[in-house]
Amino acid sequence: MAKMITVSDIAKKKAEGRPISMVTAYDCAMARIVNEAGIDMILVGDSLGNVILGYSSTIPVTMDDMIHHTAAVMRGNDRCMVVGDMPFMSYQADVAEAVRNGGRLLKEGGCAAVKLEGGREAAPMVKKMVEAGIPVCGHIGLTPQSVNALGGFKVQGKEAATAKKIMEDALALEAAGAFAIVLECVPAPLAEKVTESLKRAATIGIGAGSGCDGQVLVCNDLLGFSTGFCPKFVKKYANVHDVILQAMKDYKTEVEAGTFPAAEHTFTISEEVLKKLY
Ligand code: KIV
Repeated sequence: MAKMITVSDIAKKKAEGRPISMVTAYDCAMARIVNEAGIDMILVGDSLGNVILGYSSTIPVTMDDMIHHTAAVMRGNDRCMVVGDMPFMSYQADVAEAVRNGGRLLKEGGCAAVKLEGGREAAPMVKKMVEAGIPVCGHIGLTPQSVNALGGFKVQGKEAATAKKIMEDALALEAAGAFAIVLECVPAPLAEKVTESLKRAATIGIGAGSGCDGQVLVCNDLLGFSTGFCPKFVKKYANVHDVILQAMKDYKTEVEAGTFPAAEHTFTISEEVLKKLY
């Protein structure tokens, strides 16, 4: 069995300036491929609300959804550091609830760490969770669980006041003990400054340029799973939508033409046995 990547390995990579790779996964089959690819970290993101469950935001995602998918990912994982996302309202109301729900993700989902959204206001939760033995990854900049408060999905930190807030939020999360911080949709020069200012916590960028300690993308985006809207920061490394669509069409055609299943997909029985039926 391969050695699992831990928070110490992530800290070492930051210290040595070696880029950290992270991708989302929501099930066992994808986790197996991500492991095979040698990627460092898997995020079981609450983006599964949009990507897998068909919601229009991450708001409806529940703790039970996250535990179900995190456990599925863990069944296909033997190497990556797996981070389970804390869904909306599983940690915002109070510290004790945050610790209990973070603990549930580790105990029932089997992941090694959790992620939550928010800056200074989330620092007390992060501190208590870390003290309880739960490694925490922060998430600032564009935080999709606050999309209603942010007024939409847009780049964060473009003005002096909001840029200052992002820097202060990152420092507060690091001081609270976060081992990593996702920076989403933040101007690249700001993300680079935040990365330089953090001594221990690794920054993981998504739409935050190349100056972060690592990068994360949603697996369905990088695979080109859908033909719908695609954010500017996504690079499609494949066009899985077209591959799957063609395979489905070919299957339908062959079923309708009677050419599938062919002899090689079919089990036989001896004539002698068959005769005994009538
Ligand atoms: O839920 C998610 O997939 C995320 C990433 C976009 C960072 O939070």
